[in-house]
Amino acid sequence: MLLVAISLALLLVALLYLRHLGWGLIAIFWFEFVQQPVLNLLMGDTKEQRILHFVQQHAKPGDPQSALEAIDTYSSQKEWGMHVGKDKGQIMDAMVQEYKPSLVLELGAYCGYSAMRIARLLPPGGRLLTMEMNPDHAAITQQMLNFAGLQDKVTILLGASQNLIPQLKTKYDVDTFDMVFLDHWKDRYLPDTHLLEEHGLLRKGTVLLADNVIVPGAPEFLEYVRGSNKFECTHYSSYLEYMKVVDGLEKAIYQGPSSP
Ligand SMILES: C[S@@+](CC[C@H](N)C(=O)[O-])C[C@H]1O[C@@H](n2cnc3c(N)ncnc32)[C@H](O)[C@@H]1O
Repeated sequence: MLLVAISLALLLVALLYLRHLGWGLIAIFWFEFVQQPVLNLLMGDTKEQRILHFVQQHAKPGDPQSALEAIDTYSSQKEWGMHVGKDKGQIMDAMVQEYKPSLVLELGAYCGYSAMRIARLLPPGGRLLTMEMNPDHAAITQQMLNFAGLQDKVTILLGASQNLIPQLKTKYDVDTFDMVFLDHWKDRYLPDTHLLEEHGLLRKGTVLLADNVIVPGAPEFLEYVRGSNKFECTHYSSYLEYMKVVDGLEKAIYQGPSSP
């Protein structure tokens, strides 16, 4: 009884603390730190495994669109998931179709939702490298890509972006990227943008596309790219994945190291 009272009190304190961050973050906190652990305990698996099983049961092998739709159904009707989602995903689709990138870097794969969205629209010969530091998430992403038939277009690099980015030229034979999708932990957006610049991985015209710049938010990244003449920025207002909470994508096109 005492344990329950203490747990409830701690939950209340956490909710009060989170309240000033907004309802979107409270909802994420609830789904990720309350609902998900309880379901994991009851069902003896993980949310990411449940998502993969749902896709395997409801989508068509070799058909990425049906896999995306299954994830959207699961995440809107059963358990919230941190995939970029359909609304922002369609904005992303339009950008891949407009810029036709041959080489894309993704930071943060999770279950492979955005990797499938990007890879299915790449031009012939196009490649996506996606970095994921959680080995369980990387394994789910690989199985998702195998199911969707996209395994030959995508390479998963297991590790933290800050360790992998400096190795891209020497170990992975990368010259420069045409597009970079930033969707890992938000406090890494700015330092990883600096790393990409320092290691010469951006060229004039490289498109950086950053998710969740409003919720949870990436204020230092936004301040940097919007305030620098090295980037030309456009904001795309949308909604946080599977919620009626305003969020947005920021497109920052690299203009070269020292634009006049
Ligand atoms: C928001 S989820 C990615 C969602 C995915 N892009 C999608 O839309 O389907 C963030 C993922 O980034 C991974 N991550 C966080 N920080 C990272 C880092 N520094 N390097 C590599 N992966 C990271 C987390 O483990 C998590 O799986």
